[in-house]
Amino acid sequence: MSEQTVVNEPTVETHSSLKQDSEAQSASTKDQEQPRQGREQEQTSNPTKRARSPSTEESSRADSGSNKRARSPGHDTKSTEPNVHKQVAEHYNARPDVGVEKRKESTIFRLKSFNNWLKSVLIGRYARPRDKVLDVGVGKGGDLLKWSKAKIQYFVGCDIASKSIEQAQERYRTMRNPPFEAHFHAMDCYSEPISKVVSPDIVFDMVSMQFCLHYSFETEAKARMMLHNVTSQLKPGGVFIGTIPDAYWIVKKLKSESDEGLQIGNSIYSIRFERRDSFEKFGAKYWFHLEDAIDDCPEYLVHFPTFQSLAEEYGLELIYNKKFHQVYEEASQELDFNQLLYRMNVISEDGHLSADEWEAANIYLAFAFRKRQ
Ligand SMILES: C[S@@+](CC[C@H](N)C(=O)[O-])C[C@H]1O[C@@H](n2cnc3c(N)ncnc32)[C@H](O)[C@@H]1O
Repeated sequence: MSEQTVVNEPTVETHSSLKQDSEAQSASTKDQEQPRQGREQEQTSNPTKRARSPSTEESSRADSGSNKRARSPGHDTKSTEPNVHKQVAEHYNARPDVGVEKRKESTIFRLKSFNNWLKSVLIGRYARPRDKVLDVGVGKGGDLLKWSKAKIQYFVGCDIASKSIEQAQERYRTMRNPPFEAHFHAMDCYSEPISKVVSPDIVFDMVSMQFCLHYSFETEAKARMMLHNVTSQLKPGGVFIGTIPDAYWIVKKLKSESDEGLQIGNSIYSIRFERRDSFEKFGAKYWFHLEDAIDDCPEYLVHFPTFQSLAEEYGLELIYNKKFHQVYEEASQELDFNQLLYRMNVISEDGHLSADEWEAANIYLAFAFRKRQ
């Protein structure tokens, strides 16, 4: 399938397909070369070893690039496969909201703790007291305590999975003296505008999308609706943070496997493609399985230069882009975040992430954009 068959009307300047992942990387910006080298260096470290000096870390700042006017989100946000969003919603609705004690029994308890720690780092870095926050793909409200610690004043959480929204509401209701007002809405954030549920008078200081943006890369129209929702009520100077699977890492790993293989993974995760010859900018589907978390759910590669270029159209400037291993290397050197590693059970007297968990952690990258003034 050619790129044109997927994107009828290309509107971004970076057209490199993930087909040649290494070329695609160099086709982005010079600045993006830097973190890639960093990425490869840090593959071997893990939390059991001492973190290296943060001086080796370079934040990846995007060039200012084109600053085109954002098009209004496409009207046609229909899926290429009509039931994918339902499948995703059903998948998350079906997952139980287990308590803290049960969570400790999980085979990937340390990895879950690590992912939570990483989100705490991002939130700790960018949230400010009294912020108004929009959490797109809020899930079961797993980050509510983090927002509470960040002392925000107002919170809106949206998710396509209505059961998860009920669980998030319940979690908020049972929080001890929640220091912020919160509202929750079940909606498809990639097909409907946020103004349907949030008054246009509300201006957010921050938008967060944790482990969920990649579902919008099913089609360009959905990715545009996602970016419209992120930016339409975000104040100039406001920050957009998130975490997504790193398409470069995934494709590179797939290509390094045996000739015909369609799958990568280890004892706790698998990523399975239906083809391996070419990957479109949108709709590059794979099936993701993560032990005790995600049961073979359809997801989409996010070609970062395409994402960045599209985000530019919506007035967003990239200010941070790092692999999870790099975030660890850097943040674990800071006393507060280092202590948090222990408080959040990422590391304890009796254990740490297994090698397979550490590899799975690095599927992801963290990013931050700032909305232009
Ligand atoms: C891996 S979970 C992450 C939940 C939460 N952000 C966290 O970090 O714990 C991904 C979430 O994205 C949500 N999601 C997927 N597609 C969505 C859509 N079209 N609109 C809103 N939420 C969506 C799912 O329902 C799910 O709750």
